[in-house]
Amino acid sequence: MGAYDYIPKLYNVRFEAPESGRQSDEYFLADIDGETRRFNIHNYDNLYSVPWLYDISIYHNLGCETPTEMSGAIAPVWRENDADGSGFSMLELGAGSGAFGHELRHTLKMKRLVGLDISAPASQAAERDRPGLYDAYHVADLTALSPELRAELEAEKFDVVGLASATGWGNHIPVGGFEVGFELLRSGGWFIFHVKPNDPDPECVALNDWVNDKIATGALVEKYRKSHFHRKSSGGGDIYYDVVIGVKA
Ligand SMILES: C[S@@+](CC[C@H](N)C(=O)[O-])C[C@H]1O[C@@H](n2cnc3c(N)ncnc32)[C@H](O)[C@@H]1O
Repeated sequence: MGAYDYIPKLYNVRFEAPESGRQSDEYFLADIDGETRRFNIHNYDNLYSVPWLYDISIYHNLGCETPTEMSGAIAPVWRENDADGSGFSMLELGAGSGAFGHELRHTLKMKRLVGLDISAPASQAAERDRPGLYDAYHVADLTALSPELRAELEAEKFDVVGLASATGWGNHIPVGGFEVGFELLRSGGWFIFHVKPNDPDPECVALNDWVNDKIATGALVEKYRKSHFHRKSSGGGDIYYDVVIGVKA
């Protein structure tokens, strides 16, 4: 059984030939309840409002492997460092409908898993499609947390802060959100993410600069960095990201 076979193939999804190379400019048609509808791959509220639609389009149609690639990279790094998810609490940023959360819980055995996403439909999709996956799920813009939520998250003293498939392209988590996520991680905790190198998208450039600065100043100690397959583009190309696993000084 494939790692994503648990995602039900409910709809016939067809991607359109892309008009640009930007990851945010990809569209598909899906037959839902007898109606053919058109979706943008980055219009998350629309996607999450239909059961499993985001997961079907990304994991089945575009063959995304980031959740399993990332969890597969983390497990040996943690073994080498005597770290164990079953004792960890984690804040997952841009948690969406929970595909990475599924691996965090089932492969890495995370003890406590808290999701955060700017999209209310994301929170609803996670509870609808993967009930009980998260211990708590906050709907909030990571770059504009209320003082109350920030205090609540700080009190958790997270052992791990991480994210998958939520960087770059204008509607993902910007560098300001990475900084907040980093602040919410306890000293000695694990920061886990992936970043697209050598892409001219301004947010990718800014994030690469932010990561390089964190490593150069010693704020983040890099334990692992390797290129991993992310997904196919709708034009058929392969998209790779660098998975980065580090410890906060
Ligand atoms: C590609 S989706 C996440 C996929 C998910 N992590 C998975 O494993 O399938 C990116 C997510 O980032 C969220 N997001 C974008 N900007 C955000 C922000 N400023 N604060 C919190 N979440 C944000 C979006 O709502 C979206 O759910």
